[in-house]
Amino acid sequence: MSILVLNGPNLSRLGKREPEVYGHQTLGDINRELTESFPQLSFEFFQTEYEGALLEKLFSSEDSGSFRGVVLNAGALTHYSIALRDAISAVTIPVVEVHLSNIYAREEFRRRSVISEVCAGVISGFGANSYHLGVRALLGMVPNGQQ
Ligand code: DQA
Repeated sequence: MSILVLNGPNLSRLGKREPEVYGHQTLGDINRELTESFPQLSFEFFQTEYEGALLEKLFSSEDSGSFRGVVLNAGALTHYSIALRDAISAVTIPVVEVHLSNIYAREEFRRRSVISEVCAGVISGFGANSYHLGVRALLGMVPNGQQ
């Protein structure tokens, strides 16, 4: 079973984008480190600037039956996309919400996540390590139907 690492808008710009907030690593660097840190796992990495593409990827992952969970950094969609929230609710695979920055220590509009309630949990503020912690969280979860 694979883990899907899903990134939303603007995360393709990591490395160049506000490095004082998001660090100097590119998304490629982060993904490579994940693969190296968890050699026993298989990953699929997907990034898109489009809300609908994120939803479609969630649904196709669910339908394929080959993912044990999703580590999701939805970028700004986190704060306003009810469509994304509904899509997460609609799938049964666990989704862990991650953020590089601590969204609760930033601007007012970032302190609200409309997806947290339907995610398995939230990891925010640990830079690239948020993704690693997200993977660990998924590994610690009991798969659906096996309680
Ligand atoms: C982010 C935080 C969001 O508020 C922002 O829109 C992003 C990145 C993070 O990883 O810290 O694009 O999700």
